[in-house]
Amino acid sequence: MCGIIGYIGHDNATSILIAGLKRLEYRGYDSAGIAVIQNGQIEVRRSVGKLTNLEQALQQAPLYGNIGIGHTRWATHGKPSEQNAHPHRSNGVAIVHNGIIENYLTLKQRLQKEGFVFDSETDTEVIAHLLALHIRDGRSLHDAFLAATRELQGSYAIAGMYVGEPETLVATRSGCPLVIGRNEKAAFLASDVTPLLPHTHEVVFLEDGDIAVLTAQSTTITGAEGRVAERKSVRIDWDAEAAEKGGYPDFMLKEIHEQPQAILDTLRGRYSYETGEADLPDLGLTSQELLEAKRMWIVACGTSWHAGLVGKYLFEELIRKPVQVDIGSEFRYRQPMIQAGDLFIAISQSGETADTLAAVREARLRGARILSIVNVVGSTLARESDGVLYTRCGPEISVASTKAFTGQVVALYLLALHLGRIRQVLSLEDGRWWLDQFMALPSKVEHVLKREAEILSMAKRFYTMRNFLYLGRGINYPIALEGALKLKEISYIHAEGYAAGEMKHGPIALIDEDMPVVVLAPRDQLYEKTVNNLMEVKARKAPVIAFVSEGERELGALADFVFTIPSSHPLLSPIPFTVALQLFAYHVAILRQVDVDRPRNLAKSVTVE
Ligand code: M6R
Repeated sequence: MCGIIGYIGHDNATSILIAGLKRLEYRGYDSAGIAVIQNGQIEVRRSVGKLTNLEQALQQAPLYGNIGIGHTRWATHGKPSEQNAHPHRSNGVAIVHNGIIENYLTLKQRLQKEGFVFDSETDTEVIAHLLALHIRDGRSLHDAFLAATRELQGSYAIAGMYVGEPETLVATRSGCPLVIGRNEKAAFLASDVTPLLPHTHEVVFLEDGDIAVLTAQSTTITGAEGRVAERKSVRIDWDAEAAEKGGYPDFMLKEIHEQPQAILDTLRGRYSYETGEADLPDLGLTSQELLEAKRMWIVACGTSWHAGLVGKYLFEELIRKPVQVDIGSEFRYRQPMIQAGDLFIAISQSGETADTLAAVREARLRGARILSIVNVVGSTLARESDGVLYTRCGPEISVASTKAFTGQVVALYLLALHLGRIRQVLSLEDGRWWLDQFMALPSKVEHVLKREAEILSMAKRFYTMRNFLYLGRGINYPIALEGALKLKEISYIHAEGYAAGEMKHGPIALIDEDMPVVVLAPRDQLYEKTVNNLMEVKARKAPVIAFVSEGERELGALADFVFTIPSSHPLLSPIPFTVALQLFAYHVAILRQVDVDRPRNLAKSVTVE
């Protein structure tokens, strides 16, 4: 999730771009850059790290011009570095990009044959060269955009300029947001409205396939077929803080709602229906190395550990291979029987969690191959791993992890499919079937999000309670743990997650009318057993909140509240169930007036032991 800004007018673009980037920095911040047309040349300044580094670079080598583009980067392809930072250039063209170009390798090979030389490891650079190629063939910048977008696959918002048309800024989008606005003197574009608000409150949200041509005096938008299209402007009355949060009251709710996109982005470009396979070129481990691994280990902390537990159920059922799951802080201080050649999977949103890193170093010492599932590109964990499977969730700002968790589970699905295919326990047809199921996940999550009001009314009924018990079975046992963790960390209510079958071995002693029980009961082979557990709960007069698969009636009679979740294969149920529990924890916490983004005593990244 990078940030894009563009300006064309009569003032110096540099200060306007930098002010805009400051307002976009929350979207990604591993590097930043701007390009300005100065004296008929594209001039670029780029820096790694915070925006202040770019400002320093500009103090040393200032830029002046009336047209420019800027970018804050959250790396997806290629580590954070000056070379990989945007803008990217080719033959008088400069562009900035947010998103992922799925077919960049094919395009890169073609462009190399055409004589274009690549300077970065990014997927973005193909866009600059592709536009330059079309301009070389005689097209205007607008027409080059039109031709290029017919070849690009993936998600993108792109803004670009060309020295041959120094009074025109062009932008397009497909699957990534892009908004334009103008006042009497100038035109602006950005990834969201935040940087536009000091200049205008009337904005136009581009639609997929639109191409906007901005000059200081005019704005023209053409639709996907290249014909002029009318787009209505919208008045935005948010202040800057509300705009950063996309109009949501806090980052946590925004991030919960970003999950359909995060899931799609994590899947994007990583599968092939032709082979029924997960296509994971960044894995860094060959099929042979994966096949040779005698044992599999997963190590993580907190919410990421819960994702690891989901992985255990998934791998053992789908690919029939035993998996040992450990908490980072435990693994490092016991004598784990890990051997040379074992596959060690570390999961972390930040990639900086001290206990997870210590476990990785221990495993490496013992000769294991390290594969990490990480959200932050270039983080310590990513750098210390043999291979990395990045979740593409964008920055997660709220302390409570939400979209990073669903991204991790999706990455585990891709890995399970890959291992299943290379171990030949999944056929071509199986592979295709699973891909269809993965692709259906975003809409199932959307379905849950649309019914947030139902979850809010549950929260209203229960937010004053002091204790909660969460029960789940099988692959949803880790989801019970995750639901309880979410509730305790943001609402400060004591909550326990338990395997439903374990309830009678102790926690049942706690159950009375003051102990609400949240039960996860998807329609699977364990459903009847969960219903029996609930009978025991009801007999002790505890209020029951049941999350069940669509179409279930049986639990309705037993539960005080029932929330239905779209049906899916049981192995895929953790994602929509988790989203419902996130919303429940969120609304309980808000009703208790907790600052959900910054809950007490917690840090986003635990970099000490
Ligand atoms: O960055 P990581 O995924 O390694 O962080 C691990 C835990 O610290 C983290 O998941 C923590 O439990 C969150 N606060 C959960 O919401």
